Amino acid sequence: MRLRRSRLYVPGNNPKMIPPAGLYGADVISLDLEDAVGPDYKIDARMMVSEALKVVDFGQNVEVTVRINPIETPWGKWDVKQIVCDRLDGIYIPKVESSEDVLQVDELVTEMEEKKGLQIGRIKLFATMETAKGILNAPEIAKCTKRLEGITIGGEDLTADLGGIRSSDGLAIHTSRQLIVLAAKAAGIQAIDTVYSDFKDMDGLRKETETVKIMGFDGKACIHPSQIEVIHGSFNPTIDEIEYSVKVKHAIEEAKARGSGVIALGNKMIDRPIVLKAEKILARAEAADLNIPTYEEIIKTQKEIAEAKKAERGES
Ligand code: COA
Ligand code: MG
Repeated sequence: MRLRRSRLYVPGNNPKMIPPAGLYGADVISLDLEDAVGPDYKIDARMMVSEALKVVDFGQNVEVTVRINPIETPWGKWDVKQIVCDRLDGIYIPKVESSEDVLQVDELVTEMEEKKGLQIGRIKLFATMETAKGILNAPEIAKCTKRLEGITIGGEDLTADLGGIRSSDGLAIHTSRQLIVLAAKAAGIQAIDTVYSDFKDMDGLRKETETVKIMGFDGKACIHPSQIEVIHGSFNPTIDEIEYSVKVKHAIEEAKARGSGVIALGNKMIDRPIVLKAEKILARAEAADLNIPTYEEIIKTQKEIAEAKKAERGES
């Protein structure tokens, strides 16, 4: 499982921010050639990013991606041609409205991989829907190519396109968010949420991240390194979720040993969705390098807590 809890935008024309970008612990960095860079700086930024991809050590664990300009702009195709290299892990395509927008990039990446003697298909694609049309076409877009590993939503542009208002409860884009999750999950890929722009408001960020986690998103974009820890904290499984999942896994093994198809935890029957959810939580916890106690450790701790409580009450 590839974790994409946080995705840090780094302006593609900022020589100070690019070199340390991999050190902040984000799962993904997106060197940005689109909205963070004005029209007069597009070519300089593209050169800086393609050079950085060759010389900067971003670290082992981070997925290194570039957000290109939309493919129909004067810059889009040249962005792809110049940035494809062996350190590039993925490309984010903005303002996608149809499968064609993704397939054009897909073809061009293949052409460049062939030209540059790179492994074909290693560079992944991610599509951002940020117009009403893009959102409504998301189910088709999400399954248009094997290279696509995730779809994302652009909150600011989408709100403007809808003629809505960006409020703290996210009402204007709520249905669009859920559509992105539905389209992604039906296609078996990940759903990544939009940025939370006020990078000083950590409580607001935490609240929004908790909400989108509940909705089914796998990760969230961010604009400032200080947002990464909050986002990881929200997306990581909680200790209770991990412990419950370990117990579910133990119950499955116990049922198997008994030769029974009925899985029970205490007095409760465990059905298939609960088993699947437990498996997902444990996979996420493992990918995030979180501590996963064994079943025996959990039971031992529970016994110790129960005994300590008893002792406190003066019972023995
Ligand atoms: N990527 C990498 N490094 C970043 C960063 C980012 N997105 N945002 C901030 N930093 C670094 C700063 O360079 C600074 O480093 P230093 O301590 O070595 O000097 C440190 O983090 C603290 O930054 P701070 O002073 O709090 O913020 P700032 O005023 O330098 O920058 C923003 C604020 C919003 C301009 C900046 O975070 C930014 O450009 N974000 C990305 C915007 C973007 O890409 N938008 C398009 C997508 S929506
Ligand atoms: Mg946008």
